[in-house]
Order: sequence, then structure tokens, then C-alpha cells
Amino acid sequence: MTSGSWEEFFATHLPPTDFEDNRSLLKEFCERHNKYGNKIALVTSGGTTVPLEHNTVRLIDNFSAGNRGATATEYFLENGYAVIFMHRQKSQEPFTRHFNGSKLLDMLDLQEQGPNTTITVKQDSVYVLAPILARYQAAHAAGALLHVSFTTVSDYFWLLRAACECLANLGPRALLFLAAAVSDFYIPKDRVPTHKMQSASGPPVIHLHLVPKMLAPLVNLWVPEAFVVSFKLETDESLLVSKGRAALEKYKHKMVVANLLQTRNQRVILITPEANQEILLTKEELHSGVEIEGPIVSEIVRLHAEHLAPR
Ligand code: PMT
Repeated sequence: MTSGSWEEFFATHLPPTDFEDNRSLLKEFCERHNKYGNKIALVTSGGTTVPLEHNTVRLIDNFSAGNRGATATEYFLENGYAVIFMHRQKSQEPFTRHFNGSKLLDMLDLQEQGPNTTITVKQDSVYVLAPILARYQAAHAAGALLHVSFTTVSDYFWLLRAACECLANLGPRALLFLAAAVSDFYIPKDRVPTHKMQSASGPPVIHLHLVPKMLAPLVNLWVPEAFVVSFKLETDESLLVSKGRAALEKYKHKMVVANLLQTRNQRVILITPEANQEILLTKEELHSGVEIEGPIVSEIVRLHAEHLAPR
């Protein structure tokens, strides 16, 4: 398996078609919050795809639904951060995540009266909907939340670098929470067929290349003063902490949040240069709807405040 450099990756992959629009949105958002001395959290969320055809019918994807990023975004907003929510198209989003499937429709009552038809929220759903709606409206009224989306791994990297270019001006007030599940393997653009692969041609042989790790330029060049938190996902407990700590030592950022696929909503280990700190929800907490992103974000916010405090 071969891996090119990150410079080569950008040189050989065009930006997505909506790139300039998103770049303008990012620039305006960062400049506005920078002017007021606000803190900005960039939250990346959801999985990236690797297309197998330019006119994409098939693609390589991963499991990530984007719950971690969408949930953490709400907690960063609660903690006074402006948030850039950089997410996979059609993955979970803050606030609307509470109403997946038919949940929202089940909260409504319909009174059909021809032109005077009305829709109301059922009385016992008001206490569920009202606080979420209030937080959603407050975030938007304050201009504190910007959504930008990606699909492919190449779109993701173009957006990530553009966001970092804008965030660099905030220095240490920028915080990056890199929860997206980024593809590790891809097919270089010049090897991707234009049209749908034909099954009549027999089973395709696909040679995957390693995606260059973007954490290296991100930490060293793009946002050298920012508070960077990356994630480490494993499925084997025996590798979790050692691989998380190895990443922290390699990239020299501030924290790795290590989680196992199977238990990611119940347990994480926050790995910092000083310590390993486990956050574990009890079964009762999980069943009563406690979200692990609450304590994760609290601890990150506390450490970020220390990072910002004058020495
Ligand atoms: O979305 P959910 O379903 O809620 O699940 C949440 C989650 C399990 C996806 C999340 O908690 C998580 O662990 N996200 C990171 C998964 C991942 O990509 O881990 P990794 O070990 O492959 O990558 C480690 C870090 O390197 C990541 O922070 C990633 O941003 C970064 N990376 C990865 C690939 C790459 N080419 N360059 C990178 O910089």
C-alpha cells in the first residue's frame, strides 16, 4: 500500500463545486466572532466516502452516523462557543437529531378544517420540544452556528484546510474537535473510472492507497496555536490506549479521545500529555438519556480555558 504526501493529495484532487461558497461562509463567520474575541469550536462529524467511479454509483463508506459531532456541537454552544459544524451530508445534525424517524410527527396533532386546518404540538410533547427549540433558536439568533457539509474524503480535506485557514487568526481561541471518521484508504483520482463499472467485465480489482494523515500539517502549519482534539477509534481494547497515546506523541496536539466502536456511547478515555482519564456512563445513566458528550465537552472546555489562561 502506498501513501503520497498531503501536498500531493491537494495537487491531484480538485476542490468540491461548492467550495468557494463555503469558504466565504467560513471567512465571514470566523471574522465576525474573532472581532468580538469569541471562542470558535470546529466540530467535524460523520464519515467520509471514497467514490469508486467519477459518476458515482458505488462508493466505500463507513459506519459513522455523526451522533458524536452533532451532540457535542450542542454542548459547545451551551458552553458559549461559536461552532462550525462540518458534517457529512445527510448525517445527524444538532437539534434535529432529537427527532429522527417519525418522532417529530408523533408529537403533532392535526385538526383538519379545510382552509382553517391547524397543526399543534401535543401537550405532553411540549416539554420535550420547547427546550430544544429554544436552544436552536437562540443559537441561530446569535449567529453562533455555521453548517458546512462534505461527502467524499477529498471534499472533507479541502473544507478542513479552508476552515483552518480562517481559524488560524483566532490563535489559541480556536478549538478543533475532530470526530469525523475519515477514510484511511482511497483510490487516486487518475485511477478512478469515469463511468459505472460494468459487472460484465468481471470482478474489479481495486488497489487502495493510504490517505495521508492530515493531522500533521493541521497541527504544525494550519492552526499551530489552536487547541486540537483528535479521536482514535479501535475495535480491539488492547490497542486503544497505546494507539491513542502514540498519536498524541506523534502529532503533539492537546488530546486524543479514544473510543471503541462497540461502546463509544458509554465509555471514552481522554488521553492528554499528563494523564489518561476514563469517562464511563452507568447503565442507568445511559437508559435515562445521559449523553457522554456532556462530560467529554466539559473536560475539553476546562482544559481549553487553562490553555487560554495567562501564565
Ligand atoms: O459518528 P458516530 O456514529 O457518533 O461515531 C463517533 C466516532 C466513533 C466516529 C468518533 O467518536 C471517532 O472515533 N471518530 C474518529 C474515527 C477515526 O477516524 O479514527 P482514526 O483512528 O482512523 O483517525 C484518528 C484521527 O486521525 C482522527 O481524528 C482523524 O480526524 C485523523 N485523520 C484520519 C485520517 C486521515 N487521513 N487524516 C487524519 O488526520
